Amino acid sequence: MAKTNETTAKPRILTGDTPTGRLHLGHYVGSIENRLALQHSHDCFFIIANTHALTTRAEESKAVRQDTIQIAIDYLAAGIDPNQSTIFIQSEIPAIAELTWYFAMLLGYGRLMRNPTVKDEITVKNLGDSYSFGFLMYPVGQAADILAFRPQAVPVGEDQVPHIEMTREIARRFNVVYSGVDPQGDDAAHAKKGVFPVPEAMVGRVSRLVGTDGKNKMSKSLDNAIYLSDTAKQVQKKCNKIFTGRMSASDPGVIEGNPLWAYHDAFNPDKGEVQDMKGRYQAGKVGDGDCKKRLAEVINALLDPMRARRAELEAQPDRVMWVLYEGTGRANAVAEETLWRAKQAVGFDFFRRGLSLVGD
Ligand code: TRP
Repeated sequence: MAKTNETTAKPRILTGDTPTGRLHLGHYVGSIENRLALQHSHDCFFIIANTHALTTRAEESKAVRQDTIQIAIDYLAAGIDPNQSTIFIQSEIPAIAELTWYFAMLLGYGRLMRNPTVKDEITVKNLGDSYSFGFLMYPVGQAADILAFRPQAVPVGEDQVPHIEMTREIARRFNVVYSGVDPQGDDAAHAKKGVFPVPEAMVGRVSRLVGTDGKNKMSKSLDNAIYLSDTAKQVQKKCNKIFTGRMSASDPGVIEGNPLWAYHDAFNPDKGEVQDMKGRYQAGKVGDGDCKKRLAEVINALLDPMRARRAELEAQPDRVMWVLYEGTGRANAVAEETLWRAKQAVGFDFFRRGLSLVGD
């Protein structure tokens, strides 16, 4: 059992994903890899943000349910150990919804609209002005996802940093308004006297992984992603299709901004080999095909153990549900405690409540 009690000495982290589909290599280098590295030294909480997914997929709730389970399988297949880490479902943590309500009062509409990630999403997803009210609320909800766990750090990709910045502002504002922390106080003052710590963003080794199109960030909606759940064949095919802009093998190849080399840098552990191949590529002495083939091999070497674990998990759907059930129970214990502290600070601590999940 993971220890989630208040006496645990391990620093706590929280991060998670929106179930909009399966996880890809961009998620891996942006955040999953950090999670794997931290899971022994940190008390880790991983949220599957299914309510959050409804902000753009309200009519597809059944598909979101399936994706929620798929993300859990992705986590476990990637090597997240449910005995060390807590994997849980957002919609089963009522304290998050309640904290969202308190937090929404602490920042203005204008501040929300200045969030660059929100603006980007409106453009990229072609939302025009037809986005829901809930869509605009989601960074506030994300602040509640995070602060409900009072973590020190949040491992995320670069695109999420504006949300962590907003979370930090909300934590400070809450602590100033309700816990009497000095508005000039530093993070240590907040950690000591406030209900909420001011958590840090922890960006992964590769903050933004380009897609196989060589243009955009790797993302499901742009059809330029290599998934952790792709078969070896699919990976080979996708590697072959990587856009390099090179016409023939004897042309001097370009390294800068070329996804082929961004991926070799990110996934080929043999730096000497990469260095050597890059030299030959620039000199027009090696074709795209050979470099792509080698890339598919290194990516498949990373994904093979995940495939084996995935096959095991897919044969045991009950095991995945059990991990989620147990994790959600542990997450509720922490989030309920946070909510109680927050309500005490606000002065709405009229009655203390108990909460338990009924499993069957
Ligand atoms: N917004 C994140 C994404 O789309 C997912 C997410 C939801 C999250 N809640 C979170 C990430 C809390 C970190 C912390 O990828």
